[in-house]
Amino acid sequence: MNIGVIGSGGREHSLCFKLLQSPKVKNIFCIPGNAGTDEICKNLEVDIMNFNKLYLSIIKNNIKLIIVGPETPLVYGITDFLQKKNVKVFGPSKKASQLEGSKIFMKNLCRKFDIPCAQYEEVTDIESANKVLEKFNVPIVVKSDGLAAGKGVTICGSKDDALNDIKNILNGKFNSSKKVIIEEFLEGEEASYFVVTDGTNFKQIGTAQDHKRIGEGDTGLNTGGMGAYSPSQLINDEIEEKIINKIIIPTIKGMNEIGCKYKGILYAGLMIKNNEPKLIEYNIRFGDPECQALMMRLEDDLFDIILSTVDEKLDNKPIKWLPYPSITIVAASKGYPENFEIHKELSNLPKNDHRNEQIFHAGTKKINNKILSTGGRVLNSTVSLQSMKASRDRAIEMLDQVKWTNKYYRKDIGWRVIK
Ligand code: AMP
Ligand code: GLY
Repeated sequence: MNIGVIGSGGREHSLCFKLLQSPKVKNIFCIPGNAGTDEICKNLEVDIMNFNKLYLSIIKNNIKLIIVGPETPLVYGITDFLQKKNVKVFGPSKKASQLEGSKIFMKNLCRKFDIPCAQYEEVTDIESANKVLEKFNVPIVVKSDGLAAGKGVTICGSKDDALNDIKNILNGKFNSSKKVIIEEFLEGEEASYFVVTDGTNFKQIGTAQDHKRIGEGDTGLNTGGMGAYSPSQLINDEIEEKIINKIIIPTIKGMNEIGCKYKGILYAGLMIKNNEPKLIEYNIRFGDPECQALMMRLEDDLFDIILSTVDEKLDNKPIKWLPYPSITIVAASKGYPENFEIHKELSNLPKNDHRNEQIFHAGTKKINNKILSTGGRVLNSTVSLQSMKASRDRAIEMLDQVKWTNKYYRKDIGWRVIK
C-alpha cells in the first residue's frame, strides 16, 4: 500500500523508519519531509495546510492511507476533509481534536467526567481575571485556550505577573484564541503516556520522559523537547492502573458521549505525585521527540496497528516491545529556542544502517547535494542498547561525529535515572 506521512520532524522520520519495517508497506511519501526522510521515502513538497492541493497530490501518487504527525492540520480538520474524499486517515476528527486545540474544551471534559486534573477557571475579561486570581495561590498557571506552538503556558510567580500575561492573551498575543485558563500549579514529576484507540478499544503504545528545557539539569527556557527516553521509570503498575481507569477510559467514553468519537494517538501529559496521576494536558498525536524513542523500541508492526485503528478493528492484545530501553537526544541550532542561524552545512553523519541506532532528521534539507540545517531542532540521535547509560553514551558518540558549526545538545538526557 502507498502511504503518506504528514510532517517534517524527527517524529515523522521515525514513523517512516518504523513503517518501512512492515512487509505490507510498499512506498512512503513524506509530506513535506526532511533530508532524512528523503533518504528512505519520497518527499512531496506540498503545503500541508492547503488541503485541496494535498488531495491532488494524494490522488496523483495513489496514496491510500494518510498518517498525520503534527497537531495543526488535525485541529483544522484534515481528517474530515480527506475522509469525505475516501482517503483513510490516521488521526482524530476536527471535533475530537479540540482535546488539544482548546484547553477549555479539555478541562470541561475533565470536569464533566471527573478526570483528575488541576483546579481551573476560564476567564475572558480582565475584571473577572482579577477576581478569579484571588482564589489561587502562587505560583499560578496561566494558559491560552488555543494552539500556541508550545508557548501558551506561563507559570507565574506573582498575581501581577499573571495579570500581565492574561492581558497579553486577551489582547490577542495568540491568534488561535483570546480565552484564558487560570489554573492551580501542580507539583510532582511529569511523564508522557500514549494510547492508540479506535474510539472503542485502546491499548498503551508506550511511556516516555520528555526533557523540555533547553539547559542541562532541566534549566532555562522551554522548548519543544530536547530529548526523551522510554519507558518512563515513573509509571509503575499501580499508577498505570489509575491512569487507565481514572483518565484514559473516562476520556474515551466521555468523548463518545458528547459526540466526539476519538480515533488515533492520545498522548496524556501527566503529573505524578504520591502515586497519584493527574492530567496536565492532552495531545492528539505522538510527542516529538518521544515518538523517536518509542519507534526504536516498538516490536509490533506499526502499519497493522494504524490500519486496524482506522478500520475500527483494534484488538486488546498488549503491544510488544523490544527488551531494551531507548533514548533520543535532540541536536538543535545554537541559540534555539530564541534566535539561531540556519543553512549551516552538516556532514559526516553516521550511516543509518543499524536497527537500534538512528539519526532521525528534523530541520534539515538537501540542497545541491548538501545537507543544510533549516530549523531550531535539527537532528535526533536515537539509540536502544541494554541500558539507558549505554544508549546515551552511544547517542552522544553519534552526535559528536557530525560536523556542523552550529550544533548544541544536552549531554544529560535521562539524568534523573542514569546514575
Ligand atoms: P503544555 O503546553 O500544556 O504542555 O504545558 C507545558 C508545560 O507547563 C507542562 O509540560 C508542565 O511542565 C507545565 N504545566 C502546565 N500546566 C501545569 C500545572 N497546572 N502545574 C504545573 N505545571 C504545569
Ligand atoms: N515533546 C512534547 C510534545 O511533543 O508536545
